Amino acid sequence: MVSGAPVGGALAGGARAVARCDALGAPPFSDLPDGLYRGYLTPAYRAAQDALAGWMAEAGMDVRRDAAANLVGRYDGTDPAAPALLIGSHLDSVRDGGRYDGPLGIMLGVEAVAALHAGGRRLPFALEVIAFGDEEGSRFPAAMLTSRAVAGTLAPEALELADGEGAALADALAEGGRDVATYLAAARAPGSVFGYLEAHIEQGPLLEAEGLAVGTVTGIAAQARYQVAVTGVAGQAGTTSMPLRRDAVAGAAEMVLAVERIARADASDLVATVGRIAAGPGAANVIAGEASFTIDIRSGDAARRDRAAGEILRELDWIAQARGLGCAVELVHDLPASPCDPELMDLMDAAIAGAGQPVRRLVSGAGHDAMVMAALCPTALLFIRCRGGVSHNPAEHVDPADAEVALQVMLGFIDRLGVSRRDV
Ligand code: GLV
Ligand code: MN
Ligand code: MN
Repeated sequence: MVSGAPVGGALAGGARAVARCDALGAPPFSDLPDGLYRGYLTPAYRAAQDALAGWMAEAGMDVRRDAAANLVGRYDGTDPAAPALLIGSHLDSVRDGGRYDGPLGIMLGVEAVAALHAGGRRLPFALEVIAFGDEEGSRFPAAMLTSRAVAGTLAPEALELADGEGAALADALAEGGRDVATYLAAARAPGSVFGYLEAHIEQGPLLEAEGLAVGTVTGIAAQARYQVAVTGVAGQAGTTSMPLRRDAVAGAAEMVLAVERIARADASDLVATVGRIAAGPGAANVIAGEASFTIDIRSGDAARRDRAAGEILRELDWIAQARGLGCAVELVHDLPASPCDPELMDLMDAAIAGAGQPVRRLVSGAGHDAMVMAALCPTALLFIRCRGGVSHNPAEHVDPADAEVALQVMLGFIDRLGVSRRDV
């Protein structure tokens, strides 16, 4: 493992965590020359893992890469046989994203261990900081692959993937010295981990509006993602009269507006997004023969999400029929709503109060690796205020003082767990 990039020797832990996220926001830790995109298994991903491995080692951890190419740092406890506490978040980013969505939770985990190590403290259990690789799904058409591998919920067929340039997941893994055939060996044995803690920026405006640095998350909304392929007939833009066209782009446009209309009409926490759209053959003088787009639908109530999804898919079908188009829809991602563990929420509240902060509970509309890890063990999620609630955007911003509060809360939470685990 190479040593960590030289960031912030004299900074407080929270500020250093923020500074390290900033350091990872540009090449060689980004796949974009300007701005941040770090896809799973790209050169930038590998460079960021190398830097992080150095920071983990400096903090006193033994570092390894697991079978799913997650980076894991372990800080042993006094009882080598005791189940471990995992602390994690993701190292990948969306395209042209912010620097803190994901990496901040990892860097704060490293700082928590660094603080224990500096004080010569060992807990009754090991701490493992895990940097997941594919939370966003921004390279391959699937999300949370690596946390699903760790939680043991990933099916082997889910690994038959290629990215937008046609590069197979198996080949991308091989470039980094990993074998797709052994990917699922990243699964942790049930009982080997007693809890999962994630700290993450809120990605919403609530904490800022209430003047709060942090909050305890109660649960994460259910998600579903679809890939839609619309097929028409490519044709001459100058000679094909309007009634004779089977225009895939015009059909897709009507479908996108239907998605928005149905979600707006629901007027609950339901949200639906078309975030990516493409058309072919892609010339100004050719009627589009093909169009494809994604749909992302979420609600805290999975039944509500599913009702809306059913309505949207029926509407897509009608639009396609009315326009003489083909329409193929594939469900590519389906995660149930994930409540956080009630006892860990209480511990988190106590840690927040112990850090001198008001206690506030809130739900997460954004997805997190924690929702997948809930299949393996009880989960806790701590939200940190971000400016304007802006995220998935280069303008994402976190105040180092808030990161410091989050670090103190995490240390208080870990301490309280240490006390309660002694009683087990
Ligand atoms: C992850 O950022 C998600 O909520 O999609
Ligand atoms: Mn994100
Ligand atoms: Mn995230």
